[in-house]
Amino acid sequence: MMEPCTILIFGSTGNLATYKLLPALYHIEAAGRLHPGSRILGFGRRDWSDDDWRARVSALLGEHFAGRLDAEVLRRLLGRLHFAPGDVERPEDFRRLAERLRGAEGLPPNLLSYLAVAPGHYVAIVEQLAANGLHGEDGGWSRLVVEKPFGFDLESASILDRQLRQHFSEDRIYRIDHYLGKSTVQNILVFRFANLILEPLWNRNYIDHVQISHAEARGIEERAGFYDGVGAMRDMIQSHLLQMLALVAMEPPPNLDAEALRDEKVKVLRSIRPIARETVHAQAFRAQYGPGRSGETKLAGYAEEPGVGHNSTTETYAALKLYIDNWRWRNVPFYLRTGKRLGQTNSLIAIRFKHPPQRLFQSTAIEKLQRNWLLLNIQPNECMRLEIQVKQPGLEMRTQTECLDASSCNLPPEHIDAYEALILDVIEGDHTHFLRFDEVDWAWRILDPVLKLWAIERDFIHTYPAGSWGPLEANRLFDREDQEWRNGL
Ligand code: BG6
Repeated sequence: MMEPCTILIFGSTGNLATYKLLPALYHIEAAGRLHPGSRILGFGRRDWSDDDWRARVSALLGEHFAGRLDAEVLRRLLGRLHFAPGDVERPEDFRRLAERLRGAEGLPPNLLSYLAVAPGHYVAIVEQLAANGLHGEDGGWSRLVVEKPFGFDLESASILDRQLRQHFSEDRIYRIDHYLGKSTVQNILVFRFANLILEPLWNRNYIDHVQISHAEARGIEERAGFYDGVGAMRDMIQSHLLQMLALVAMEPPPNLDAEALRDEKVKVLRSIRPIARETVHAQAFRAQYGPGRSGETKLAGYAEEPGVGHNSTTETYAALKLYIDNWRWRNVPFYLRTGKRLGQTNSLIAIRFKHPPQRLFQSTAIEKLQRNWLLLNIQPNECMRLEIQVKQPGLEMRTQTECLDASSCNLPPEHIDAYEALILDVIEGDHTHFLRFDEVDWAWRILDPVLKLWAIERDFIHTYPAGSWGPLEANRLFDREDQEWRNGL
């Protein structure tokens, strides 16, 4: 059983807390993984009592779990909830918060502060936590959970890091990339390093290229305030997709401790060939969804979404080609792609193998030999598929593609999200699935030339119909004509 702690949520009435953190805390409660003494303290601008917040959370979870809510689990969770009205920009509200944390209510002194607020508030919160002695210098531990994107570019990320580290040492900062909490993403490591059979093939001698693709059917919904001006490259590629790339490409670490693992990921990021300004257009592509349809339903274009400026050139689609200049991967292209309002919601790592060295079947009826693919579907369902060539039954010598699917492919999608695992990791003090600052820094270094050029080229952006698979122009990234995007399994 873990130590008792107070989980303090800044932004407790916001989008992240509502859709991710509170459902995750419900799952943790259901799994019996919270210490009986642990408490959850929401901090927010509403003038709510504890009971007001409990009523609100009860309604939210009722809606979220529609009919699947366990009354006993909910009762236990609500019993842990407290609410502290306050504004993150008002020092006096932090003084009251600190008094309450030290008061007679019995809130455990171990403090997990979750910054589920706009990044612009991070520094003010951290300074106030420190000013009120809530940064773990005495009493229990104090850990800070910071959401992505960490900074807006290379420079702002390092300024932010310096500001946070004035008050919190690296071992008390947990930079979240929630993809690292997904069990399918963690499975990349297990798949690679708990099996020997693929290791000899896992390099430039056998692999033609790698695609890492995250597609969403959803648009930006009510997140214009965050998303406009940020865009798909910062929102998805800088963090989630580059992390998946690092896991696919890294060398085996000496052990699984947090530093060893992160050292190997950093080595991959450092080995990525820098993108020169002249090659930005050959290696990066952006676009924005225009009006479109999904079946009979008309879908608005990005520029018509509530809160988006009509002239916005924020990209909702981004694709990137990268090369890793090391012995294992030299000259193997890694294609990364993400987009909102695409044809289907799916995340996939697709690895295409090279042709056999000899064209043995040239003189037969086989016209064109298809490639072998290894597909790791990350979500919505976990699936591993190997596509291999076999002979078609019959007298002719023809081939067909046989799909070897893992038995997990038929399981329904997992309901447990990534946040459950990550919150528990913070309580246990485990940094393995959190970003060290040098990972963030290298990720920004890779993207910085692209972002800088895009920032000045603001008078035009390609568009694609909402509900489609994105613009054909993105295919210009491919090194060869026989390469194309895999949209799903
Ligand atoms: C978030 C992005 O980090 O990840 C969102 O800000 C995106 O724009 C989301 O929709 C995707 O996460 P998931 O877990 O739904 O694949």
